[in-house]
Amino acid sequence: MSNRTFTMIKPDAMKNGHAGAILDRIIKEGFRVVSLKMTKLSKEKAGEFYAVHKERPFYGELVDFMSSGLIIAAILEKPDAVSAFRTLIGATNPAQAEAGTIRKLFATSIGENAVHGSDSDENALIEGNFFFSALEQF
Ligand code: PPS
Repeated sequence: MSNRTFTMIKPDAMKNGHAGAILDRIIKEGFRVVSLKMTKLSKEKAGEFYAVHKERPFYGELVDFMSSGLIIAAILEKPDAVSAFRTLIGATNPAQAEAGTIRKLFATSIGENAVHGSDSDENALIEGNFFFSALEQF
């Protein structure tokens, strides 16, 4: 069990003006921000990030969406961070997300679901290192 996870605030939440509220909620839930940046993924970089889903039917749609606008990428710290953060964001499909979760509050659909959260300690490390150099991880 590691104490770090990785998140992105996705283009839908950025465009809809929810980034401030989402970051506020994350910090109020006790996560420490280790690293944070606003950036935009090229199609190539989004494809690389989501390569694990290459064979899934929605891969093209996911890559197009994630490269469609600005995102905020962050590494977060809290005990049992991966699991705690996935509880905070709720189910992938906002229609199935628990009341009060970030996706229930801010997501619009299963594709445009406001935030990403790593699904394992191993992927949290890989994904954090995809966006941040060692010098940017505090
Ligand atoms: S998870 O979190 O890996 O268990 O979720 P999963 O259902 O496997 O989905 C993986 C990512 O794909 C996105 N997704 C979709 N995008 C577009 N259309 C459809 N139908 C769709 N279904 C799933 C989902 O938002 C996950 O993105 P991330 O960034 O990993 O949360």
